[in-house]
Amino acid sequence: MAESIKRVSFVGMGFVGLTTAAFFSSRGIPVTGIDTDVDKLQKIKTGIIPFYEADLEPLIKRTTQNNLLKLVSDYEPAVIDSDMTMIAVGTPSNEQGQINLKYIKAAAQSIGQALKQKEEWHLVVVKSTVVPGTARNVVGKVIVKESGKKLGRDFGLCTNPEFLREGSALQDSMTPDRVVIGEYNEQSGRTLENFYNTIYSGNVKIIRQNLETAEMVKYTANSFLALKISFANEIANICERIPGVDVMEVMKGVVSDFRINSNFFRAGLGFGGSCFPKDVAALLNFANEKGHNTVLLDGTLQVNSYQPLHAIDILEKTLKDFNNKKIAILGLAFKKNTSDMRESPSIKLIKGLHEKGAMNIFVCDPKAEKEAKEIFQNTISYGTVEQCLSQASACIIATDWSEFAEIPPEQFQSLMIEPRLLLDGRRIYDSQSFNGHVLYKGIGIGNSNDP
Ligand code: UGA
Repeated sequence: MAESIKRVSFVGMGFVGLTTAAFFSSRGIPVTGIDTDVDKLQKIKTGIIPFYEADLEPLIKRTTQNNLLKLVSDYEPAVIDSDMTMIAVGTPSNEQGQINLKYIKAAAQSIGQALKQKEEWHLVVVKSTVVPGTARNVVGKVIVKESGKKLGRDFGLCTNPEFLREGSALQDSMTPDRVVIGEYNEQSGRTLENFYNTIYSGNVKIIRQNLETAEMVKYTANSFLALKISFANEIANICERIPGVDVMEVMKGVVSDFRINSNFFRAGLGFGGSCFPKDVAALLNFANEKGHNTVLLDGTLQVNSYQPLHAIDILEKTLKDFNNKKIAILGLAFKKNTSDMRESPSIKLIKGLHEKGAMNIFVCDPKAEKEAKEIFQNTISYGTVEQCLSQASACIIATDWSEFAEIPPEQFQSLMIEPRLLLDGRRIYDSQSFNGHVLYKGIGIGNSNDP
């Protein structure tokens, strides 16, 4: 009975899979990453990572060169020759926001077929974000059907939700706040706990629960963080109607309460990315299917979809119309330190501006230009910060990149033209320092001229 995990196979070399596989192998664990996209694997092997993530590229180069990280497209030998298989395939939403489990099912089928050939006990771990019941009722059952083996006796099953953030994924992997393990039985949970204790030399908080509780932990954590952001945005939108009030100052007074933590409480254009919007929608649909009406989750998404439209409103009130006016958008990625534009508020912003007749939009992003070109082609212009700001009537800060935070007020003033509206959609500037330079507006700042 292999209760000690010496070799790991990983299904799905997307963001979570690749980062975690590289991290495990950096700790001396031989890992085989499996992905059906042969092209992608070939690129990764030559050092081309499909997304930007700080420090990941050198780590992958190092671990693939010393053979601790292998990348293959064939499940069988990889699963058979490992003690544990982790599943990190995508769980996209369908049009209604319900979770689509087709990749999970396909992974479970292939793992089951491989396990049919294996004698020893094997641990299967679901890392993908899945609605409660998926590991037991989908993954477990499919593997039993395909392998002819008995769950619990011949193979173990765990859920192990991932909490790493894009942009700081390696750091999050190295120093997690906690490791959550959902276990089918004691043996499965104990084996995974031992593995993590080896990886972190015992310096990690491990929480062991049943499968469904751990699945629910992930949705609850992401939904709560999303709710916090939408709450901050709702308060910001109210503050804008009170002259002399700034949501940042309000929050300073609020977060001094030991019960309220300041993280993920920043107002702006709202949350994007491949997780919060999808996970809130999936939990909402899951709850509705179970007969529960999700008032707060609905509100979280409503506030979030409104934020980019609200930014357009602010521009429209000042500029009156968009005819022949150049608009600069600094930032395309859904947050700084990533090239990811999935569900980025900037997409809604650009589409909304186009609908209002703004046809002269200049954009700039340190990493996401290629992604933006795939979405917008040549319907917008791409340039440096200077090219964007030059002759622009208005500028919106859409991503909190540090490069943008360093632009001095004088640069906006000298390059832009009247009315020189700067809308700080991520609140990266000290509003006072812009006095007399541009018409500065920030999400959540009450202005005496506004209604
Ligand atoms: C999120 C979670 O933070 C991770 O813990 C989780 O593992 C991951 O989803 C996942 O489920 O895989 P991520 O999507 O990488 O991570 O990005 P976040 O750092 O959480 O930011 C999400 C969005 O919220 C960004 O658009 C960011 O700009 C926005 N945000 C964040 C705010 O608008 N205000 C804030 O105060 C914080």
